[in-house]
Amino acid sequence: MSPTRREFLQLACAGAATAAVAATGGCSSPNCPATPTRPWTPTNRLRIPAQLKPAAGDVKQFDLRLQTGSTKFLPGKPVPTWGVNGSYLGPTLRMRTGDNVRMNVQNALPEETTVHWHGMRLPARMDGGPHQPIPTGHPWEPSWRVINDASTLWYHPHPHGTTALHVFRGVAGLIIVDDPVSENAPLPHDYGVDDIPCILQDRSIDTDGQVHFDTEPNFGQMGTDMLVNGTMNAYLPVATTKVRLRLLNASNARLYHLGLSDGRSFHLIANDSGLLPKPVELAQLSLGPAERAEIIISLSPSEKVTLRTVAGDERIDAGTFSILELRAHTDLTASPALPETLGGAGPVDVPNDARVRHFKLQGHDAINGNQMDMARIDEVVTANTVEIWEIENNVYSHNFHIHGSDFTILDKSGRPPAPYETGRKDTVHVREKSTVRVAVQFAGYTDPTQPYMYHCHILRHEDAGMMGQFVVVEPGNENSTPRHPSSSQESPR
Ligand code: C2O
Ligand code: CU
Ligand code: CU
Repeated sequence: MSPTRREFLQLACAGAATAAVAATGGCSSPNCPATPTRPWTPTNRLRIPAQLKPAAGDVKQFDLRLQTGSTKFLPGKPVPTWGVNGSYLGPTLRMRTGDNVRMNVQNALPEETTVHWHGMRLPARMDGGPHQPIPTGHPWEPSWRVINDASTLWYHPHPHGTTALHVFRGVAGLIIVDDPVSENAPLPHDYGVDDIPCILQDRSIDTDGQVHFDTEPNFGQMGTDMLVNGTMNAYLPVATTKVRLRLLNASNARLYHLGLSDGRSFHLIANDSGLLPKPVELAQLSLGPAERAEIIISLSPSEKVTLRTVAGDERIDAGTFSILELRAHTDLTASPALPETLGGAGPVDVPNDARVRHFKLQGHDAINGNQMDMARIDEVVTANTVEIWEIENNVYSHNFHIHGSDFTILDKSGRPPAPYETGRKDTVHVREKSTVRVAVQFAGYTDPTQPYMYHCHILRHEDAGMMGQFVVVEPGNENSTPRHPSSSQESPR
């Protein structure tokens, strides 16, 4: 490992950190305080990721270069990071339902990785999971037709066993899918002006600007500095009476309980997989790793209000932190009133004969007695069906994600889901000692040899093996499908 990498990865709780960091926290172990390590001084204007909007044509091509760089989380203190078309994080990919898209991914990183399109419904060989590795110096060019409804999705690496580090170093970005419903709704949609991407990440950054990778044994990376789009101590000037935040939890492990500093309510308009049927008024919402929420906040002239997360009792939600200050101008342009209905899809319809599958989460590294094995297909699913997946968790917190599908939550330990998680989703928080049932709508792309993944999205758990594989097949082929995938080294063309 080069000295630069060693510095970059020095461990906050392993004695390598500076005295200042060691004394004030910077890790999530029960012995480390979960309080902010530096005062909340929102002096940095929120960075807005560039949009990538290829010209309309037969195929929209997105050029994505995975690269190394350096980033100043603290002024004047550059540190090595990874990013896409830049030094940290990546551009927001903008596409419409019905588009034919082609990704021209170039891996200029020093390690093999993958790029997964989280939440996108597409053929398994385009999915960017562990079976589609991109060696250093190589391209990968998946293409598909966008069938998702309007939604906020994201992309991130998914290499077998090293996802946590690759995401931590900075490879992640948003995907915004638009459709006629979202375009015609009277919702804020001026990107970076009243429609604001917010990629939430927690890091522990010491006084030299070094970012420490937390190896806390249960959950892994947790931090006490809150970044939004890579900006610490961030503020956002607002010039309209309503602002829409597209919140993505791109943290490795942290669970956020988000609300505003004065306790005012706001409206939720979308979950992971798209708009809700109608807005839901809330004062707080929880967002586990990989989940998204779109919210609308109303502001009065000249006021300041801060988005924050409050501490919970699950360890991955330790500490109360300010995240982003919203600063209203003295003159605000009136935004349209929120519509009564949003046009989003309702709950998944469950047929009486829906197949039920049980998944038991075990420790931090196994499901139904097995650790992830690239050479084993765990489940065979029939295309275009709805199934009930029952996720049982007798241990500590997990966040369960299913590729190639979307779902609605039926119940959590027998109770209906919270109002903030009633829409279509692809990832669900599973509290310790609880059972969650979801109704999953699978897409119609079949491939008996290339699997999709399901896994815990706490990245340390995913890397440790809390992941399984399923293939989607034509009706009637379930029993003849081989239980091992085709060679993972094949280039997906
Ligand atoms: Cu966001 Cu399988 O991942
Ligand atoms: Cu995914
Ligand atoms: Cu987990």
